Amino acid sequence: MEVPFLDLKSQNSSLRDEILPRWEEILASAGFIGGHYVTGFEHGFAQACNSRYCVAVNSGTDALRFILLALDLQPGDEVITVPNTFIATTEAISQAGGKIVFIDIDPLTYNIDPTKIEAAITPKTKGIIPVHLYGQPAEMDTINKIAAKHNLWVVEDACQAHLAEYHGRKAGSLGVAAAFSFYPGKNLGACGDAGAVTTNDPQIADQIRILRDHGQEKKYHHISEGFNGRCDAIQAAALQVKLKHLPQWNEARRHNAALYHKLLKNIKGITLPTQTENCLPVYHLFVILVDDRNQVMTALNEKGISAALHYPVPLHRQKAYAEMNLEEGSFPVAEECARKLLSLPMFPELTKEQITYVCESLKEIILNK
Ligand SMILES: Cc1ncc(COP(=O)(O)O)c(C=O)c1O
Repeated sequence: MEVPFLDLKSQNSSLRDEILPRWEEILASAGFIGGHYVTGFEHGFAQACNSRYCVAVNSGTDALRFILLALDLQPGDEVITVPNTFIATTEAISQAGGKIVFIDIDPLTYNIDPTKIEAAITPKTKGIIPVHLYGQPAEMDTINKIAAKHNLWVVEDACQAHLAEYHGRKAGSLGVAAAFSFYPGKNLGACGDAGAVTTNDPQIADQIRILRDHGQEKKYHHISEGFNGRCDAIQAAALQVKLKHLPQWNEARRHNAALYHKLLKNIKGITLPTQTENCLPVYHLFVILVDDRNQVMTALNEKGISAALHYPVPLHRQKAYAEMNLEEGSFPVAEECARKLLSLPMFPELTKEQITYVCESLKEIILNK
């Protein structure tokens, strides 16, 4: 049996009849930039995240960078985050002029370890970026409490956590602002690149609208330099259609995760993801820890199962950050995860038969190692 890691083609074909008429309208009107699809999607996504404002941008990376610029990060200002994330999180800090400060992660949730935050705070610290990794919200109440005590802001990297919930509140409404990615493979994916910022702060929302559009307050009146960072109508129209289906897709992901849990529980050699109490994760990825991870992945591939790695080299061990001189051993939990993690196929349309086949194959591989 073939089990893909992700199957966007079947999702796209089920949405053809909803998306194509909208794209035809855009083509006919030539309204590619801005317009009602962009504002309509912004309105819908803000509502879905229980946030006052949503500003659609070109990517999750732009969303993060624009938030940090709107918060007026200055050269040398320090921002605390984790080493087990996609590099966009830290690119945004550097590109906004800040200094990256890594801390280790919690061994159960793989999210930022709140007990390690205070030791990393210096007079130059301005904020914290927790990443809701794999779709599971970080421990936001504790993080926000620490931030308030030290007068810091908290920006959510919610790029993997569309509509995830923390204590009944939606990701995207838990900090001063949040960044979302709509990269095609995300739980809510565009048909190209797109992203968004959600915030309850009208000043941040205004700033991001200006930054995404070359610093323009109105046409050809630039209050600062900005970026070409808009989300186009083609993407917004597709996203508006997909947003309606997102709650049910997330539910299907949780259902798939529950089946993985049931079929893989108590298998020696497999560590399953832990679900934080009072959280509703959205399982952007289903990540297990196994020894001899590369060997296990190759064996799964040979059985027709696509597994993947998110992320095999922690950021502090990347060549891009060699000047930070952070040796192996600096963040032992993140390093161990990077060595052992393995992402199993996860998407809403995954069938019971496919999940059963993945689990049976995995058990056989682990037992025969
Ligand atoms: C945790 C995280 N942060 C940021 C990003 C960047 O988003 P984008 O690829 O839309 O720029 C991603 C997406 O890959 C991500 O997973």
